Amino acid sequence: MNSGAERNASISFHQKTWQVLRFGPYSSEMGHRYTSPDHFYMGTRLIDKVEKFGEETAKRLFKAETADLRLLSGHVADLVFLANMTKRGDLLMCVSADDGGYPGIWRSGLPSVLGLEVKALPFSKDRMNIQVDKALETIIEVKPQVIIFGASLFLFPHPINELTEVARSIGAHIGFDGSHVMGLIAGGKFQSPLQEGSPTLFGSTHKSFFGPQGGIILADEEIGAVLKERIHPAFVDNAHWNRIAALTLALAEMEKFGSAYAEQVIRNSQTLAKALDDYGFPVAGSNLGYTKSHQVLMNFGGYKHGRELAERLEKTNIIVDCGVRLGTSEVTRRGMKESEMEKIAQLMKEAILDEKQSGKVREEVEDLAAEFQKVNYCFHT
Ligand SMILES: Cc1ncc(COP(=O)(O)O)c(C=O)c1O
Repeated sequence: MNSGAERNASISFHQKTWQVLRFGPYSSEMGHRYTSPDHFYMGTRLIDKVEKFGEETAKRLFKAETADLRLLSGHVADLVFLANMTKRGDLLMCVSADDGGYPGIWRSGLPSVLGLEVKALPFSKDRMNIQVDKALETIIEVKPQVIIFGASLFLFPHPINELTEVARSIGAHIGFDGSHVMGLIAGGKFQSPLQEGSPTLFGSTHKSFFGPQGGIILADEEIGAVLKERIHPAFVDNAHWNRIAALTLALAEMEKFGSAYAEQVIRNSQTLAKALDDYGFPVAGSNLGYTKSHQVLMNFGGYKHGRELAERLEKTNIIVDCGVRLGTSEVTRRGMKESEMEKIAQLMKEAILDEKQSGKVREEVEDLAAEFQKVNYCFHT
């Protein structure tokens, strides 16, 4: 618990920081200044304070012992974790790219650069999750040096609790790539990897998290100290301080509004999924409540079949990927709620099932978007 004096210092610093940040961290002079751990550069007092303030906010938000905001992207955060926790020839277990795992840590991704073997965590497509019994058996059998939870297609929390004891007993390092669900974790509405047995949580800051584009690593004292020491100058030489200032603001907004935001995101994705299912679209996870994250999966049997549908939707200004994954973070931040999710499902039905002329649907989409131009869950000036 903060003492009164500490709290006042923090509030007064918050106010000063806010005065700098409100005029646009990205366009501030932080965008062309350097600072470094050895304080080689001068004139960095405020930048150093912003970094410290951002790290402290991140530590509070994620209940982490250490935080680092210098990573240029989620992928670089994966790289920092893997490069420091493994050596050539080690075995990594993670969700396979075929099951929705992140291709960047699958075979032709970072493991191909770092010389790692990769094995899939057994996965149930019916439950859209890691299969605990089979995973326990495989971990004991193949003894990976490192296990990474988290995925790119991520509907349901991963069973960290159920697997960590066995993983620890064979000496595996555990990490959680929370790139997609970082905003939901911050809002306390998905799962809490650091409290469930993963000493490290890392990933992007701009998917379900408020942004800007970048990466973050949160860790316990022991691993955090190792990673922090190694980041500069091996993985990031000069960090982007204007981005870190913007991320600091986003962290503070997440601290204040994250819980309400994350709750609405999940309500929206569940409503959207149900409405699409009711229209007869093949929505994944219908027997499981569809989703517990910001994502909804339309199960068209993969990327090739999804492309045609994604292209048709693009003509109406509804943007999905070729997966077909839908995400509700952005529309939620614009203030959309359950009734707008039903409207979006209806527009998708018109575009795809009714084959209504794309120009006509686009007009309706633009009308809807025009009503939601304001950013919500943030500090207003
Ligand atoms: C699970 C996961 N981790 C990491 C990344 C890479 O993130 P970034 O785009 O921030 O490098 C992605 C990309 O979408 C991802 O899905």
